[in-house]
Amino acid sequence: MLFVFLPLLSCVVGAVWSFAKAEQTPLQRFHAPRLGTAEILPPPTLENRDNMPVANAAKFIEMPVDHFGHETATFQNRYWVNSTYWQPGGPVFRQSTPCPRFSVSYPVAHKVFDSGEQNAEPLLPYYLQEYHGLSATMRLAKRYKGLAILWEHRFYGASLPFPVDENTTADQWQFLTTEQALEDIVFFANSFVEPNSPSSNAAASTSDPLVAFPVHPSKIPWVMLGGSYPGIRSALMRIRNPEVIYASWASSAPVQAQVDMSSYYKAAERSLTRNCSADWVAVTKYVDDTLNSNDETAIVNLKFDLLKAHLSGPGGNTTGAAGLTKQIANQASDVDVASVLMDPLNFYQYYGFQASLLPFCNFLETQNNTAAPVEAGVVSQFGINVGLKSFLTAISEIDYAAIPGNPDDPVQDRSWMWQYCSEYGFYQRGDPENPLSIETAFLSLQLFQQQCNEAFPEGLPPSPQVGNVNKYGGWNMNPSNVMFANGEFDPWRTMGLASIESNAPQRTPSPAVPACNTSPSNPSSFFGITYDNMVHVSDMRVLLTPDANHSDFKTVGFYSPVSQQPFYAGLGLFELALDEWLPCFGGA
Ligand SMILES: *[C@@H]1O[C@H](CO)[C@@H](O)[C@H](O)[C@H]1NC(C)=O
Ligand SMILES: *[C@@H]1O[C@H](CO)[C@@H](O)[C@H](O)[C@H]1NC(C)=O
Ligand SMILES: *[C@@H]1O[C@H](CO)[C@@H](O)[C@H](O)[C@H]1NC(C)=O
Ligand SMILES: *[C@@H]1O[C@H](CO)[C@@H](O)[C@H](O)[C@H]1NC(C)=O
Ligand SMILES: *[C@@H]1O[C@H](CO)[C@@H](O)[C@H](O)[C@H]1NC(C)=O
Ligand SMILES: *[C@@H]1O[C@H](CO)[C@@H](O)[C@H](O)[C@H]1NC(C)=O
Repeated sequence: MLFVFLPLLSCVVGAVWSFAKAEQTPLQRFHAPRLGTAEILPPPTLENRDNMPVANAAKFIEMPVDHFGHETATFQNRYWVNSTYWQPGGPVFRQSTPCPRFSVSYPVAHKVFDSGEQNAEPLLPYYLQEYHGLSATMRLAKRYKGLAILWEHRFYGASLPFPVDENTTADQWQFLTTEQALEDIVFFANSFVEPNSPSSNAAASTSDPLVAFPVHPSKIPWVMLGGSYPGIRSALMRIRNPEVIYASWASSAPVQAQVDMSSYYKAAERSLTRNCSADWVAVTKYVDDTLNSNDETAIVNLKFDLLKAHLSGPGGNTTGAAGLTKQIANQASDVDVASVLMDPLNFYQYYGFQASLLPFCNFLETQNNTAAPVEAGVVSQFGINVGLKSFLTAISEIDYAAIPGNPDDPVQDRSWMWQYCSEYGFYQRGDPENPLSIETAFLSLQLFQQQCNEAFPEGLPPSPQVGNVNKYGGWNMNPSNVMFANGEFDPWRTMGLASIESNAPQRTPSPAVPACNTSPSNPSSFFGITYDNMVHVSDMRVLLTPDANHSDFKTVGFYSPVSQQPFYAGLGLFELALDEWLPCFGGA
């Protein structure tokens, strides 16, 4: 069995401030839709490297830039292999036996973990080695005697057909599409030499995995794992190329591409305590209304207060805001100041309410520990001025700006931006029609589109071509041999099979493993699991070890940040499924 391991969807930070505190120059805040995890995936530090397993050298395959046209250029696509548990020549494929369900001789299988839209190298020690215990991929490789592969997506990390920077041309970007990137996996899989072919005689004397491991997908089942965007890819591959990918674990996969993703923060709102929600909604509306008014004095005061809260620190420390003046504050745009109210949401999608929002809500609801919280909230009890003041105090008391994060990867930011601007959309706008919105309406669809057009003046369609993704079924898809896992309060659940949004098909997960190679019979259901209280890709992470109190938000991409249960629940259910499906491989 081959585990093609496609790691987590990396996530472009929703709002990056380029406000240099020291210089007190509020510049522009960049509002990209948030996606996966990459902004908080740190490479291991130098001192940690001493404890890391032996280096696992990257492999490269020569990949056509263009699978579908006449372009003949190629590039080097990077991947890694761990063959520790690989047992070739085992009781592999009794091919023609139709579904030998009870003769449990597992076919050796590959696991491919897809790293999606990020540099895959930092993932290596966590997902393909034992830096912090066995990952889901390595556990599956161990159990099914598989080969584990970590795959890097084109246009990320070292897998670059072209240099990615502000000079990358429209002619070059046209090769970063969903279809080209899916076909990369097909090409890669078909590059493995078939067993007993003349060229496999070289196996003993080569370190080239394409030759050394006779693991063509016609002979050995390939299993694909991925969370977030790679979760989408894992599901699409099973539909698009069932002859290549035999089974998939699609974690937190927003398979329904949609330009308007105002649903993103609805998931966070649903997770709030009711008093905190009431105040957040009221303050958001008040700030939007004031900035939209003609009251210049109120506007400049509000801008100043919002920026000051953002720049101040715990214990009433206003040092960071020392150089801020009303004149400087007035230069900041409406959307930049209004989105200060969303500071507390920066880490929400990985941590959920309990770990990332409750401390903030507590400051807000107790007015900085000076009053008892009430059920209806501060605004309804004491009015908007007290509510706003308490909200801003809570923002400065929790110093979000000081929470360590990952330095930006400019290649990733740009390539993912091309992907969402051209195909996925997912514009996380604030919806003024939503009475429970906790996101400013200044973050509009037009703003997102405008940022896309400015970043890519040529080559973009007028609007993201979501049909390129949704032609595989979107959230109505019903593939065989795929498990869909979600977190109850994951903002990305809203775009997946488990969505509860009003325009979604309202399907429900069922843990009953469907028969192999058979779509679940009831299309209003699907095979999978939704973890209570959990958020984005809560399952496919490495088990939590060092940051047990999740005080360091940098580690979230690697460790299970909130609970270990989804890891075991997801892994356990997927193993039950593979136990059922794998014996059918190659069967009639
Ligand atoms: C392969 O995985 C095993 C188990 O996690 C680990 O001990 C080993 O260091 C890895 N080998 C390489 C070359 O990455
Ligand atoms: C992009 O092109 C301009 C003009 O040729 C050049 O000055 C700049 O250094 C280039 N940027 C990169 C990252 O190569
Ligand atoms: C919040 O309360 C703490 C502790 O009493 C105090 O030091 C701090 O100044 C207060 N923060 C603000 C912004 O008033
Ligand atoms: C106050 O905040 C500044 C940064 O804005 C920091 O350098 C300083 O150490 C803080 N002071 C205290 C007492 O925490
Ligand atoms: C108000 O909100 C706080 C923080 O979210 C919560 O701990 C508390 O239980 C709520 N209080 C009431 C009375 O609803
Ligand atoms: C986590 O918090 C608990 C209780 O505050 C503390 O005893 C423990 O040492 C902390 N663990 C780590 C790893 O920081």
